[in-house]
Amino acid sequence: MKILVINGPNLNMLGRREAKHYGTDTLASIERQLAGKGKALGCEIVFFQSNHEGSIIDFIQEKAGGADGILINPGALTHYGYSLHDALLDSGLPAVEVHLSDIHAREEWRKISVISDVVIKQVSGLKTQSYLLGLEALVEHIRSQKKK
Ligand code: DQA
Repeated sequence: MKILVINGPNLNMLGRREAKHYGTDTLASIERQLAGKGKALGCEIVFFQSNHEGSIIDFIQEKAGGADGILINPGALTHYGYSLHDALLDSGLPAVEVHLSDIHAREEWRKISVISDVVIKQVSGLKTQSYLLGLEALVEHIRSQKKK
């Protein structure tokens, strides 16, 4: 099983960025933890981060064919990234949306996720755990679909 783990704008700055919202783990550390969890779950993970919506869309279009699912923290694109929404939909892959902070307990504009209708689940507010639980849920979903 192959999972694409995608991080959007500013997530390359984790570790130095608003620890009260995002915790102290760097993106490299989160990716290491995900790689470990992926190994335990028996899946291969391909990581990608970009500050550019178009580059994320190019990555999805290029890699979706050979993948089984997408775990994504779109950063602020969560709130206005309509072309990301469409790319996720077009990929035909099950996707899980994760957020380090609780987007429902912050500014009004952060409460809206424009991708929520194309993901199977949103995990928000658990810092690094959001990613680990999100990966578990995604793998479980893919396995249950394969059995059908
Ligand atoms: C975020 C929440 C977004 O509102 C913000 O723009 C981010 C990170 C999170 O992980 O909590 O960059 O997606």
